[in-house]
Amino acid sequence: MSARQQVQNLLDFIDASPSPWHAVKSVETQLLAFQFVKLNETVKWQLQPGGRYYVIRDDSSIIIFVQGQRPLVDTGFKIIGAHTDSPGLRIKPNAASGLDGLLRLGVEVYGGPIIATFTDRDLSLAGRISYKNNQNVIVSLLVNFERPLLRLPNLAIHMNRAVNEEGLKLHKQNELPLILSTLAEECLPQAYFSELIQQQSGCDAERILSWDLAAYDTQKGVFWGAENEFYADSQLDNLASCHAALQALLDDSVLDNDNTLVCAFFDHEEIGSESNKGADGSFLADVLERIALGSENNREDFARALAKSFMVSADMAHGYHPNFPLAYDPDHKVTVNKGPVIKVNVNHRYSTENISQAMFADWCEQAGVPYQKYSHRNDLACGSTIGPITSARLGIRSVDVGNPLWAMHSIRESAGVLDHGYMIKVMRKFFDDVNLANLD
Ligand code: CO
Repeated sequence: MSARQQVQNLLDFIDASPSPWHAVKSVETQLLAFQFVKLNETVKWQLQPGGRYYVIRDDSSIIIFVQGQRPLVDTGFKIIGAHTDSPGLRIKPNAASGLDGLLRLGVEVYGGPIIATFTDRDLSLAGRISYKNNQNVIVSLLVNFERPLLRLPNLAIHMNRAVNEEGLKLHKQNELPLILSTLAEECLPQAYFSELIQQQSGCDAERILSWDLAAYDTQKGVFWGAENEFYADSQLDNLASCHAALQALLDDSVLDNDNTLVCAFFDHEEIGSESNKGADGSFLADVLERIALGSENNREDFARALAKSFMVSADMAHGYHPNFPLAYDPDHKVTVNKGPVIKVNVNHRYSTENISQAMFADWCEQAGVPYQKYSHRNDLACGSTIGPITSARLGIRSVDVGNPLWAMHSIRESAGVLDHGYMIKVMRKFFDDVNLANLD
């Protein structure tokens, strides 16, 4: 498949996945086409060598695995990790309020978005609602309004004359509520909003007990540039990495591989990963242990398998922006369309270390994929990923990698068409053609 076609598939995947809950649903749809079987954490698992499985925790984190034919103590686990969430604006519980003839929705800032980029966009809402069904059971339902529904209009420059000199600053409590509607005199804002959700979801407003709703940009992904060599969409951080890992896995040759292969896509990375379904929770450790103990291994075998395992932690990297040369270490500019980036940080904000760095670089070379190395400026705080957390929790070797990206945490991010294909290629190399026995 051409790099361009792979990116078109990515854009379709993102546009069908306006929230982490939808992203997991989109992943699940792809898995079902490859005969993967869903496992429930509350039920005893009967795993078969060569079997294809996935586990979802709380609708927005998913672990996918192919049970290897060979013993785990010989192969270890090959894991690619990424995250399903993106920073943005989330709707508060008592969100709707009326003021000066307008109905607005109050929001809370999720993670660290570039908030100014949310202004003047055609925003909609997507997420999940929970309600009590006719059998008195609490169930969840995905909801997506799809059409432009909300807006955060800028203040005219005539009232904000310094905006171009001082930047667009928005007060997080007072200046972020999103405009939803004009307010009729007799309107009860919260009831009006519940009614809207009922219309969209089909769920009786009276039964709705709670929700997770994210504001998102309805603009679809596009190719851009003189040669269409770039692409733009929302949530490239980090749905692009989830998509690359999934494409690497969903390949007939890879799926018939005799190693145990794992993709782990976590929610809550953008807020620190500390939750029951985050990378700092028990999810991956629980699943790996059950894979091991469910296939006639004991605790020592499990420890031996972990000692042989390797995780590629995939998250986007900071592509060099020529308008802002001083934002980068001059010797570590990583360029869009020049290949995957190995992220190095001696303070372990990234999980990369000497050996894992060498291994990933070697796989790139074997696969004919160019690669770059990134180190953050010493006078700027470096971000982090799920890599150090997961690697520490499981005690396994890990490397942090990702494709170069412009405008990380903007509602509209950009990246290079070639890099997505490169990343899929080297991930496929890792899954299909790397012998972790060499780690001894
Ligand atoms: Co990220």
